[in-house]
Amino acid sequence: MRNQCASRTMAPRWWLLILCLAGNELHGRAQLDSRGFINIDCGLQGEESYVNDETKLVYVSDAGFTNSGTPYNISAENYRPWRSRNVRSLRSFPDGVRNCYTLGSLVSGLKYLFRATFLYGNYDGLNKRPATFDLYIGVNFWMVVNMSWWGLDQDNTATVEAIIVVPRDLVQVCLVNTGGGTPFISGLELRPLKMSLYPQAMVP
Ligand SMILES: *[C@@H]1O[C@H](CO)[C@@H](O)[C@H](O)[C@H]1NC(C)=O
Ligand SMILES: *[C@@H]1O[C@H](CO)[C@@H](O)[C@H](O)[C@H]1NC(C)=O
Repeated sequence: MRNQCASRTMAPRWWLLILCLAGNELHGRAQLDSRGFINIDCGLQGEESYVNDETKLVYVSDAGFTNSGTPYNISAENYRPWRSRNVRSLRSFPDGVRNCYTLGSLVSGLKYLFRATFLYGNYDGLNKRPATFDLYIGVNFWMVVNMSWWGLDQDNTATVEAIIVVPRDLVQVCLVNTGGGTPFISGLELRPLKMSLYPQAMVP
């Protein structure tokens, strides 16, 4: 596994650009743990949540955070026992240009670490070159996810991170189809970074 990270801190301009948030008022259920963490296992089916053996963090299904897309598991031949359970399933978005996750119950004005994880794992059985698509936080461009950058091997996990001051208690993370294949996402995690409001907050 190659696990590479790219980080980008967004400009304060972000405060002005919250229009995208108005459209979708879907709220996630029971999404915050005691430290204000949000751990979403995209495409998780059959149970609503579980505790990660190693980190003891609770991961929840993404069903309450988005109303589009299709859940998948990675193919059996790409299963690796040592890999985080978070990447065994994913949600793919074959329809529509822009598909979003709505994350609620955030503390407006607080700085958060956003982390998105991707593993193709031949989930569609097509054994094809992994997709490339754009990621947004609200209306702000976050980055291009180009799975080729993490290797043509479908077995590679990609993780991208951004640190952002959220302007509202509701934020959307959106995958935008740019014609490079069907966007998908395996995991989405948020960590509040300001210690004073969450004394035990840590980034594991
Ligand atoms: C993925 O695997 C889990 C556990 O075996 C199963 O409960 C779930 O239904 C599967 N999801 C899909 C989309 O097939
Ligand atoms: C993705 O990366 C590959 C390898 O660097 C490159 O050939 C391709 O043009 C990139 N695609 C996009 C849409 O940026």
